[in-house]
Amino acid sequence: MPLGSRTAVTVRDHTDADWPAVWAIVEQVVRAGDTFPYPVDLDEATGRAIWLDNGPGGRVSVALVGDELLGTAKMGRNRPGPGSHVATASYMVSDAARGRGVGRALVEDSLTWAREAGFAAMQFNAVVETNRGAVRLYESLGFTVIGTVPRAHRMPDGTLVGAHVMHVDL
Ligand SMILES: CC(C)(COP(=O)(O)OP(=O)(O)OC[C@H]1O[C@@H](n2cnc3c(N)ncnc32)[C@H](O)[C@@H]1OP(=O)(O)O)[C@@H](O)C(=O)NCCC(=O)NCCS
Repeated sequence: MPLGSRTAVTVRDHTDADWPAVWAIVEQVVRAGDTFPYPVDLDEATGRAIWLDNGPGGRVSVALVGDELLGTAKMGRNRPGPGSHVATASYMVSDAARGRGVGRALVEDSLTWAREAGFAAMQFNAVVETNRGAVRLYESLGFTVIGTVPRAHRMPDGTLVGAHVMHVDL
């Protein structure tokens, strides 16, 4: 089904039956190597462990348009113990479905989840600075760039680019 410029997006919790469609998105994003610090040759079992295990109280969501799964998010506490009042999250949208509101729906849903779970803030630890769509999306929802770790991410062409720490109070 072709997507319109803005389409109704449903976000719900991940179930086991979703994994093949989620893995297809995770695999696509990881192989590209330009946004996530995961091995570009990540295998499915490791990918499943990374994406689905989010520690105590963590959660994975999926975004659908109709019955088509187009995006996913993982979320949980950023750090254990004294850091456990700060949440973190990661988002991936299918390449073909980007720019149509799926990512925004996933981020908004994760912020609602974090507020309802009692987190005081959400922090992203490494937003690749060249990932302008992601940075703009997060800033539009209240996140600010706390700082930028220089040369933290090696792009597929070998270029070293910075990674932002981004934060919002909830
Ligand atoms: C980042 C990502 C999750 C955004 O998802 P998306 O579905 O494309 O985002 P949306 O369509 O909801 O766009 C939301 C906003 O982001 C911004 N945006 C998205 N793509 C953009 C682009 N290519 N250039 C500039 N801004 C962009 C816009 O400000 C847009 O605002 P609008 O809602 O007012 O139009 C998606 O591009 C993705 O999965 N990228 C690869 C993985 C990744 O980078 N994950 C985040 C790592 S920190």
